[in-house]
Amino acid sequence: MSCAIDNKPNNVAFVSVTAMLDLLKQVGTDAFLLGLSAYIEQDYLRWELFDKSPRFASHSADGVIELMPTSDQQQFSFKYVNGHPKNTHIGLQTVTAFGVLADVASGYPVMLSEMTILTALRTAATSAMMAKYLAPQNAKTMAMIGCGAQSEFQIMAFNVVLGITQFRIYDIDRAAMQKCQQNLASEDIELILCDSAEEVVKGAEIITTCTADKRNATILTSDMVLDGVHINAIGGDCPGKTELAADLLLRADVFVEYEPQTRIEGDIQQLNDSFAVTEMYKVIRGDRKGRSYAEQLTIFDGVGFAIEDFSALRYVHDLLQQQSTPQQLELLTNQQNPRDLFGLLHQSVQVTRLAVGA
Ligand SMILES: NC(=O)c1ccc[n+]([C@@H]2O[C@H](COP(=O)([O-])OP(=O)(O)OC[C@H]3O[C@@H](n4cnc5c(N)ncnc54)[C@H](O)[C@@H]3O)[C@@H](O)[C@H]2O)c1
Repeated sequence: MSCAIDNKPNNVAFVSVTAMLDLLKQVGTDAFLLGLSAYIEQDYLRWELFDKSPRFASHSADGVIELMPTSDQQQFSFKYVNGHPKNTHIGLQTVTAFGVLADVASGYPVMLSEMTILTALRTAATSAMMAKYLAPQNAKTMAMIGCGAQSEFQIMAFNVVLGITQFRIYDIDRAAMQKCQQNLASEDIELILCDSAEEVVKGAEIITTCTADKRNATILTSDMVLDGVHINAIGGDCPGKTELAADLLLRADVFVEYEPQTRIEGDIQQLNDSFAVTEMYKVIRGDRKGRSYAEQLTIFDGVGFAIEDFSALRYVHDLLQQQSTPQQLELLTNQQNPRDLFGLLHQSVQVTRLAVGA
């Protein structure tokens, strides 16, 4: 597949926040989430083709900055993403991101995109796609714990991909719940605001935990969760940052994206490496079972993996080719003689030399 949107090789397609919002408006959020979840599923089916490694993480007292690269040998991508739970107290977001898609044959970048919105969409599309294989059939109710930036995207994706229509929501901050309620007021879903984590999980066949707190929290303890439930645990995604009690994990069948990364970052960091988990690509390919009996307690210990960001960038790049004239960013040099880089200086700026020995 060709990677170039524009035939001028010095330009890369640039997807600003405004352009991403315009694209979502054109495509429609439901269609976007469905399309993106299909791209992620397709790429998980091509698992062997991808370069895989745990992401590079630079930890500090209050957060982490991560780089997430991968390639299918035709296209390469990376995402820059942070996770700073304290940020919201100073008016900044917990998670922000941007990413690059490049052409492997030439090594040239072809697209630079905002990925704060795209990460929320890809995390939601991934959660819902995984839940197709793990959640009880005909589930109608999901409990959402944590009503921050990711929450409405999760709710939308579970509605459109799985047909979940009732959402019980809980956050320690009531203002976050009210924001979620307002944002989803016009959607054809039932939203029930709850006062505690114990209350929110009552009657829910699916529980999503998406809280931000840089510590080993216990949002869910084992006694709160009945057999037969699916837990989509996505907020624990960093060493020392977990959401589920260890004995809850020990009771369940745990599914992960890429085991070497999840052992470091996921809720299973609390357990010994001998605790067996299943990588989801095996389930998606049909090599291993996902949900196989009604009483099975399943947990998707999601931390976010580079292939999902690759899929998201690939999807946006394909949409740009079909739907609009993308904004271009002059990011690369493009002189007639590729080896005459210095000649560019001669053509456009006065090269001032210091006198030798001055
Ligand atoms: N797995 C992934 O791929 C992935 C992707 C994006 C974000 N995340 C993680 O998801 C989490 C949420 O991200 P966000 O952007 O929505 O953050 P956010 O800061 O916008 O929202 C987090 C919410 O959690 C609430 N909260 C904190 N402790 C709680 C508790 N004990 N019970 C109930 N609610 C609680 C906060 O009040 C806040 O409203 C973060 O930890 C982030 O790192 C994971």
